[in-house]
Amino acid sequence: MKTIIPPIKCQGIKTKLVPSIKQLASKTSYQRWIEPFVGSGVVAFNILPKEALLCDSNPHIIAFYRAVQDGAITPEIAHLFLRQEGKFLSVHGEDYYYEVRNRFNQNHSPLDFLFLNRACFNGIMRFNSKGQFNVPFCRKENRFSSAYITKITNQIATVQKAIQMNHYVFACQDFKTTISSATENDFLYCDPPYIDRYADYFNQWTGSDEMNLLSLLRQTPAKFILSTWKSNIFRSNNYAELYSEYFQIWTFQHFYHVGGSLENRHGMEEALFFNYDTPYPMECHNEAEQLALSL
Ligand SMILES: C[S@@+](CC[C@H](N)C(=O)[O-])C[C@H]1O[C@@H](n2cnc3c(N)ncnc32)[C@H](O)[C@@H]1O
Repeated sequence: MKTIIPPIKCQGIKTKLVPSIKQLASKTSYQRWIEPFVGSGVVAFNILPKEALLCDSNPHIIAFYRAVQDGAITPEIAHLFLRQEGKFLSVHGEDYYYEVRNRFNQNHSPLDFLFLNRACFNGIMRFNSKGQFNVPFCRKENRFSSAYITKITNQIATVQKAIQMNHYVFACQDFKTTISSATENDFLYCDPPYIDRYADYFNQWTGSDEMNLLSLLRQTPAKFILSTWKSNIFRSNNYAELYSEYFQIWTFQHFYHVGGSLENRHGMEEALFFNYDTPYPMECHNEAEQLALSL
């Protein structure tokens, strides 16, 4: 099945891992799908659970999806908005991008958030210590072409349908609150910022966050999958070694194209940790990911 692409982009987006996460999650049953680190939402919108709690500490992501949920943003509204703002951008050039960025940093409009997210450098979602969006413009001739606007509005239409057809709750909250609320009927998909790799999502991600996450996952009655990185050509992730003391693991070779530093753009071994039994062997859905089973 074709992967659903959401209208919002962020570094560490799991589009390529969706088939594997879907396959692993399908090996067990649950009532409610929970994501403490929902980001773009690509995983939830492809799993398409009937019931979900989708959380993030970034208030702009949550405000955007709530606006889609309550109809403040529809494909038609977004189309008109992007056409108008795209026209201003082509007339006034990149100065207009920075005008919208200043406006967003004052008013926090979800439509401006969409505009910036789809016009900024490399689809990065980065904020400074004052919580202000600070990603530069991605120069491109005719940035908001008709085809690009149509693509974005179709992506909004797809997620709008998913949100309207199912029972989804979007909440801006810390992962500790989200994971603590999970019961044995829930399934958690945890995709925290990759420790020591990406900075400045909305807040920093530290070793103490990682230890809190480990402790909460050891205690949770819910089933879960945790995404993290295992190693790259430069070094390995010590926390992944800790996780492997307690949980099962699938590993993949993966290449990220989005990232500021050279290291972030290199290939790496990525891991899915999980806490439930699954029949062996599991077939590999995605040849490019070169699934290496290490159960
Ligand atoms: C790797 S991204 C998630 C990507 C997502 N799975 C996707 O495919 O688009 C990590 C997310 O965690 C969020 N985050 C960072 N610290 C957090 C915290 N303490 N509590 C909840 N969310 C947090 C970030 O805002 C970011 O959206």
